[in-house]
Amino acid sequence: MDNTDQEGFSVDQVIGNSPRIFRNKSLVSVGTVPDEDRIVGRQEEITNVVLSLEDVIYNDVPDNLQIYGKTGTGKSLVSRHVSSKIAERAVENNVHATSVYVDCNSNNTITRASRALYFSIFDELDEKYGIADQSSTTQPPKRGVGWKTYTEELWGIVDEHYDGLIIILDEIDLLEDFNKLLHALSRARENDEIDTYISIVLISNKTTQFKSDVNQRVNSSMGGSEFVFSAYDAGQLEDILENRRDAFEKGVLGPNAIPTAAELAADEHGDARKAIELLNKAGMMARRNMDKTVTETHVKEARDLVEADLLSKSISTLPDQAKLVLYTLAKKLDGRTSSVSTSQVYERYQTVAKDVESNILGYQRVSDLLDELEFLGVTISERKGRGDRQGIKKDHELNHKPTIVLAATLAEDRRLQKLESVSSPEDILQ
Ligand SMILES: Nc1ncnc2c1ncn2[C@@H]1O[C@H](COP(=O)(O)OP(=O)(O)OP(=O)(O)O)[C@@H](O)[C@H]1O
Ligand SMILES: [Mg+2]
Repeated sequence: MDNTDQEGFSVDQVIGNSPRIFRNKSLVSVGTVPDEDRIVGRQEEITNVVLSLEDVIYNDVPDNLQIYGKTGTGKSLVSRHVSSKIAERAVENNVHATSVYVDCNSNNTITRASRALYFSIFDELDEKYGIADQSSTTQPPKRGVGWKTYTEELWGIVDEHYDGLIIILDEIDLLEDFNKLLHALSRARENDEIDTYISIVLISNKTTQFKSDVNQRVNSSMGGSEFVFSAYDAGQLEDILENRRDAFEKGVLGPNAIPTAAELAADEHGDARKAIELLNKAGMMARRNMDKTVTETHVKEARDLVEADLLSKSISTLPDQAKLVLYTLAKKLDGRTSSVSTSQVYERYQTVAKDVESNILGYQRVSDLLDELEFLGVTISERKGRGDRQGIKKDHELNHKPTIVLAATLAEDRRLQKLESVSSPEDILQ
């Protein structure tokens, strides 16, 4: 078959012709959970988490735990790693224990979170013992039941099969009504619903906001230890990256690529995710340019791209309308003033919504969405004056360069790409 099109372009000419940059790209993909020997610079944190949870291996009462710290400081990594190690060790000690991880960003309602919790444990038990086929097991439906159905069913299977259970609720601040779920989980044993020892590990990068939202009752029944993971310095980030050097073919990384990625990420706030992404994207850029070496220039050029990419991930779970509002804000702030008022945003938003043929929300809803964006840390809003008929007046700023926010919103919404007449969000960053 002829695979050459009219312009003489042949796919075969492209395939396999770029320089070999990566040997094992997954090592610089942030979704990959690295092996223990690649975790560096968190010994103290690991020890603290181990000490809080380790009673599980002796079939005794573990601590509850709250882990705070800025984004990319290894909170998710360390807690997942330690808790699965503890569960493994418990099993070696003939204590039936397991750990379960719930991402409250993608399971952000109490029903979704308790369903995720239930089915993770159910699936694990089913894999081990084939419980789905046992007549004594009745699985709750996946839809149409309230969260309590899942927690009640959960206690049934947990009590029957486990002595110890570690529940990690990651990004807990993003879970609506988390107080209700935490109350139910922390009281289960006291209420005689189970004999299993449970440890609840809460993780958040919004310490102050989260803590002020936890109610008194939950606070007193949760108790436990609290740790703050500090940001990495450039040296630690360099170690983390050095430990993943084998993601690249030998000799491909220029001498300054890793130190530059580490420095740039340390400058921001010491975010390991950013450091890893920078190196990954720098490699991709080198490959695209047909360069055989990844240099500090590639790393620097990758900077905006990485920031836009990380931002688009963090806004990906927002409703479409919130993305429209964010896009509007970025357009208003692109190259002009540093802040705009809610009513200025609203005025422009109506045009944007019309242009992308979306329904147009009322002023108050848009104002609420702006609050949501601030909560996520994408914007900073400041109250001004005493408000008027339309409610409280606020001014809004972006926490990123407007072009980065534009690229991130475009990546999330194809209608906006059309509006900007670009074929890829990266075009905005050129
Ligand atoms: N000490 C470390 N050693 C090796 N890799 C690390 C280390 N800390 C973090 N990483 C890597 O950096 C990325 C971010 O880490 P992690 O997801 O644990 O951050 P986090 O504190 O949970 O951030 P967030 O608050 O944004 O969820 C992951 O890909 C992780 O593998
Ligand atoms: Mg995390």
